[in-house]
Amino acid sequence: MAIDFDTVVLGDFLHCIDDPDQGDDSWQYHADSALLLNKGRIQGLQPVAKLSEADLVDVSVFDYSGQLVLPGFIDSHCHYPQTEVIASYGLQLLDWLKQYTFPTEHKFSDPEYAATIASFFCEQILRNGTTTAMVFATIHPESVDAIFDEAQKRQMCLLAGKVMMDRNAPEYLRDDASSSYEQSAGLIERWHGKGRLHYAVTPRFAPTSTEEQLQNCGRLLNEYDGLYLQSHVAENHDEVAWVKQLFPDSRSYLDVYDSYGLLRERCVYAHCIHLDQTDWQRMADSGATASFCPTSNLFLGSGLFNLEAAREYAANVSLATDVGGGTSFSMLQTMHEAYKVTQMAGGKLSPMKALYLATLGGARSLQLDSEIGSFEVGKAGDFVVMNRQASELIDLRLRRATEITEQLFALIILGDDRCTLATHVMGQPLYRAGVN
Ligand code: GUN
Ligand code: ZN
Repeated sequence: MAIDFDTVVLGDFLHCIDDPDQGDDSWQYHADSALLLNKGRIQGLQPVAKLSEADLVDVSVFDYSGQLVLPGFIDSHCHYPQTEVIASYGLQLLDWLKQYTFPTEHKFSDPEYAATIASFFCEQILRNGTTTAMVFATIHPESVDAIFDEAQKRQMCLLAGKVMMDRNAPEYLRDDASSSYEQSAGLIERWHGKGRLHYAVTPRFAPTSTEEQLQNCGRLLNEYDGLYLQSHVAENHDEVAWVKQLFPDSRSYLDVYDSYGLLRERCVYAHCIHLDQTDWQRMADSGATASFCPTSNLFLGSGLFNLEAAREYAANVSLATDVGGGTSFSMLQTMHEAYKVTQMAGGKLSPMKALYLATLGGARSLQLDSEIGSFEVGKAGDFVVMNRQASELIDLRLRRATEITEQLFALIILGDDRCTLATHVMGQPLYRAGVN
């Protein structure tokens, strides 16, 4: 049967179709191929040679011949209001929050300011080839409107939520258990499931929520279908000790969330550095996801994520920038640091596994793998085109690489936003190097 399409993308296509830990059949490389799209959705991927001149009449053609096309990256944890906190000197988590982060988040009581930074953030992630992100806003409901508005304008698949924080935070950034519940419910009604947008209940972390607020998070998850939850766990030693004081009856930090029913599928916990074996077992059994944030963990001196433990217990893992604790919007840079962190911890992170974590693995963790993460028919046309000649050094190194795995690894180690030739969302180019 003839395939109906209105857009053709030419290039060399690489994607994961399974977890590379499961074996070599987990990825595919289609050189000199054509991705066929209709109304922004993937209809097929075939050799260019199979296309005739007649096929190209009245269709939009994006010719990226000779360049590497990957599924759009998924950044599973970041804070758009911290865009301008990035690269703040010298402190570890709790002091960093007090000195840099909270005063900056205060500015988001101004909707105009929130809109400006939300737009800047979307442009930055697109410039880095990221087409989906799971995003913290601030405690201000308008800050959630701002990021969803900007994502909606661009037809991006995005998850976000209002930070809930009713203790141990400056007065100007505190809500209370009932207002945070009401405001979150209002935002869920307004945004959840609208087009490609999803709402994530967002308790900042256990120290800044009362028991009543954590209970309300569980209530929201029970009251609305398909919601997400995003939070932080076991990032920093002082933070872990503080949680022990605040919740003396809990077996562990992770257990605090578990006891409020917040450990389940579609719940994404950033960091997961200082977890014990019982915690890893619970992560795996519950279907929650550990979000690996290597640039942040190194920058804030938090510790080394244990990818081998996650593997051993078969827990869901995704990859994330954690901007502004993280130091780059680039998922290439994030994969690079993930590789080094895993090396330091005595483990292994292959280039295909890194790509998986940033694409299909992230999509599976978020239960969005029918929509994003690979070039499978029916999925959205969200992809990034990598410039194999982004710099003289990258060009030299890639020419020497004989295998696509070696090319990918060199791109991960040497690459950043200079490598993004174009980023498409629903088939449309939203970023083009030299144009935006
Ligand atoms: N824990 C609680 N809030 C934050 C935050 O904004 N960034 C990071 N990295 N950890 C946190
Ligand atoms: Zn974070």
